[in-house]
Amino acid sequence: ARTAAVIPAAGRGVRLGPGAPKALRALNGTPMLIHAVRAMAASRAVSLVVVVAPPDGAGEVKNLLDTHALPERTDYLVVPGGQTRQDSVRLGLEALPDAITTVLVHDAARPLVPVDTVDAVIEAVRDGALAVVPALPLADTVKQVQPGEKGEPEPVVATPERSLLRAVQTPQGFERDTLVRAHATVRDNVTDDASMVEQLGLQVVVVPGHEEAFKVTRPLDLVLAEAVLARRRA
Ligand code: CTP
Ligand code: MG
Repeated sequence: ARTAAVIPAAGRGVRLGPGAPKALRALNGTPMLIHAVRAMAASRAVSLVVVVAPPDGAGEVKNLLDTHALPERTDYLVVPGGQTRQDSVRLGLEALPDAITTVLVHDAARPLVPVDTVDAVIEAVRDGALAVVPALPLADTVKQVQPGEKGEPEPVVATPERSLLRAVQTPQGFERDTLVRAHATVRDNVTDDASMVEQLGLQVVVVPGHEEAFKVTRPLDLVLAEAVLARRRA
């Protein structure tokens, strides 16, 4: 079983505020994308990393990968991304060589995921799951609301039982043909790949995620990411 990781990195990072595309922002001096690529390459099972670059930034990304050390065993490719995350992942899938049978999809915005989490996802796919997501229980209670006028208080519709909810991370792992079929079939705008497999009526399973696999989304997340890196070096 040959495994590749597709890393969607083509987003702007609007919620992070003005600046370079999010994946190219530095964390303790190294671009977030490089941390994410190294996190995938840290798994001995991953033989290829496909980076989906900002549409006008493929050259710059190729250059970054050429000039930052990766393990000898890891090949990499760079392809330009699309308008939505879903488009970007599909463009990454189209670049995979035939020999790949297991695919990870990993957000460039989760640069610090530990290798044990990556390996647990791969192992679950190799054990026969079609789709695997790492996830954690929620700390906050979640309310469903009825969005109304901007600035007005929103009525609460329901409170789902927290113990049954999970906050989903990446890398998500897939049997290759299942993920390709999901991307060829499902057209709705979705925020993760596993939900597309669910829409095909197929089983998705959860394995334990990790706190350090959090997504860098807002400015405070940059502070946390740099603190985690500093702690690792200490
Ligand atoms: N992504 C992508 N192509 C897009 C949009 C998003 O490859 N057209 C990637 C991002 O680069 C990121 C991952 O999908 O690695 C998760 O998306 P998110 O955290 O939402 O990143 P952004 O879309 O860049 O951020 P924002 O939504 O705040 O603009
Ligand atoms: Mg986004």
